[in-house]
Amino acid sequence: MIKNDSYWWYITLSADDGQEEVLFSIADISGSIGTELQELPSGGVKLRAYYRSSEDLHYWKAKLLDAMKEWSNIKIDDFGKIENQPWNVASEEAFPPLPVGKSMVVLAPWHKGTEPEGLIPLYINPGSAFGTGYHESTQIVLELMEDFVKPGMTTADIGTGSGILTICAIKLGADKSYARDIDPAVIEEVNKNFELNGLDPTKIDIATGDLLVGFRHKVDLLTANILLEPLTTMVGQVPKVIGREGMAIFSGMLLTERDIFVEALEKAKMVIVKEHTKGDWWGVAAKAAS
Ligand SMILES: C[S@@+](CC[C@H](N)C(=O)[O-])C[C@H]1O[C@@H](n2cnc3c(N)ncnc32)[C@H](O)[C@@H]1O
Repeated sequence: MIKNDSYWWYITLSADDGQEEVLFSIADISGSIGTELQELPSGGVKLRAYYRSSEDLHYWKAKLLDAMKEWSNIKIDDFGKIENQPWNVASEEAFPPLPVGKSMVVLAPWHKGTEPEGLIPLYINPGSAFGTGYHESTQIVLELMEDFVKPGMTTADIGTGSGILTICAIKLGADKSYARDIDPAVIEEVNKNFELNGLDPTKIDIATGDLLVGFRHKVDLLTANILLEPLTTMVGQVPKVIGREGMAIFSGMLLTERDIFVEALEKAKMVIVKEHTKGDWWGVAAKAAS
């Protein structure tokens, strides 16, 4: 939990004007739990990303370098340690209630008891792995899920992160969700977030997994908010998992990457049911071609 760490790592990235969204995304994907953006009077932008001290700085730098490998102009500027920040205050300000779609609101644990009326609360610990709900690619999936999750469904959440999409599926009426992530560290976070939402633990099957490698279950709805490259790798195996009647929601791609993924969908014999864009981000619901 954020409040108990006595120090934090920071890594500062620099990029060109207009790349703010990319910087936020890179920081999120690498596991950062907070960011500060700075616009430079001389042009360009800097983003300071904060990381937990439970892992050493090399670990976070390696995750960051992996997340930024497609962006050759983005550079690491500096890095270091920050002692004793009032993170509880900072994070409460940074995580106000976030209404999503027509029926949901993303809340932090300290909002319990003050929930807005008439909305389905999705509680997420802001210290969680990626998936606090504040990223547009997550919101794209949540909003598409409002249209496609039906009571009694079984779902798969590939790249579950904080578990937010699995929590959403169960709250919208799904009976069971298979949550998978390549990072073993997310398992504890997902279980904590599941408990925070008061959900029946038998409804979630969480395990470490690389995309759909070794995944043998059939589901009614698959969600995957990762990045273009892993999604393109996985899409060919999706029809086998969702069958003729099922649906898949893919997100985590920039709008500029749409055409590449549409081609991958066609190769996988899938057709688009609905597309959704937020900011620079694009997501799509698709099913098997009949
Ligand atoms: C962008 S986050 C999405 C988190 C959450 N599902 C959401 O929508 O906010 C992507 C997640 O995918 C995971 N991931 C990345 N590559 C993966 C892979 N090959 N197989 C499974 N999970 C992967 C990351 O560890 C991370 O938790």
